[in-house]
Amino acid sequence: MKRKQLLAALCAGVFAVSSMVPWTAQAKEDTVKVGLILSMTGAFASTGIQIEQGARLFMKQHGDTVAGKKIELVIKDDTGAPDQARRVAQELVVQDQVDVLGGFVLTPLALATAQVSTRSKTPTIVMVAATSSVINASPYFVRSSFTMPQVTIGVAEWAPANGIKNVATLVSDYGPGIDAEKAFIERFEANGGTIVESIRVPLQNPDFAPFLQRVRNQKPDAVFVFLPAGVGTQFMKQFADRGLAEAGVRLLATGDVVEDDILNGMGDVALDVVTSHHYSAAHPSELNKKFVQDFKEAYNGRRPNYMAVAAYDGMKLLYNALEATGGKTGDELLEAMKGQKFESPRGPIHIEADTRDIVQNVYIRRVERLDDGELYNVEFDVLEQVRDPGQSK
Ligand code: PHB
Repeated sequence: MKRKQLLAALCAGVFAVSSMVPWTAQAKEDTVKVGLILSMTGAFASTGIQIEQGARLFMKQHGDTVAGKKIELVIKDDTGAPDQARRVAQELVVQDQVDVLGGFVLTPLALATAQVSTRSKTPTIVMVAATSSVINASPYFVRSSFTMPQVTIGVAEWAPANGIKNVATLVSDYGPGIDAEKAFIERFEANGGTIVESIRVPLQNPDFAPFLQRVRNQKPDAVFVFLPAGVGTQFMKQFADRGLAEAGVRLLATGDVVEDDILNGMGDVALDVVTSHHYSAAHPSELNKKFVQDFKEAYNGRRPNYMAVAAYDGMKLLYNALEATGGKTGDELLEAMKGQKFESPRGPIHIEADTRDIVQNVYIRRVERLDDGELYNVEFDVLEQVRDPGQSK
């Protein structure tokens, strides 16, 4: 029995409406359903919206039919809670009968869903969740985003080469923060740097003030920071209020802290902050210029960030794979996602066939005010085609 028929039968059993099966199966044959599990409410709502908008922009630009199949997005809110993510994943697979899953802002949400992907054999595109080990949680996971060690090593190499010798680290106390902390320390120390202190702050509602005061008292050359998207504005305000810059402490971070959706609202305190990351809205390629322009036009002038890009590329990955399989889904679709290489608004990307993880450029950027009067992360150096250093091969 094909997977769709199996799921249709399962669904009929659940609802005990046997006459529904042939009609459902028929209608489904012409459609590829994509279930996106996103944080649409709660503290991380702005990130869920970026992902939905990135995916919808790709469909607007490229049409909603590929290999004779109509693509249908089904969005479910995980509210930022792992239990809810698991529940809606089950619903998407059993009731909505989706062919593909995707989304996941926070690592714990992807981890909570992994078993559902594996048991139902549903190819699943991880669009943020950036802890290295996420990719190992299911053989049906494919990552279109980034990994924390991958983006962290950029700034960990730049700092000691630019006179920064003593650094304190400050990260959110969960998977990606711990990955970032470890990657930064290893690479920075290997290049001759010294870590003066490592601080972990709670993921939910962190108050940075006491930690920043501790850093200020120690007067390191810089503080390296990882916080997930959405938390950066509050951090930057407290960084300014505590007078760290005046005390001579520079801010180094991954791009999550100064992400494009919120950077412009941070004001001058963000100027000159050096970060490393895989995407900037100021990336100077034709493809990116069009991506940013179309995104702004479609969404009320809003700037896309790295979440929108990962969703946009996740849809391209799906479209390419459906073209390769002639519209077939399941294991064939998963195989066709592996090994893909294409140009993204961030630059060239490659989904490694054996790890299902992403290989991409990591850029070193500085916050500058450009001619349009807005703040951007301006790329000035690049590490080309970086694999995830968090995975040993
Ligand atoms: C994660 O939870 O893996 C995560 C979330 C947001 C980020 C980075 C990592 O910006």
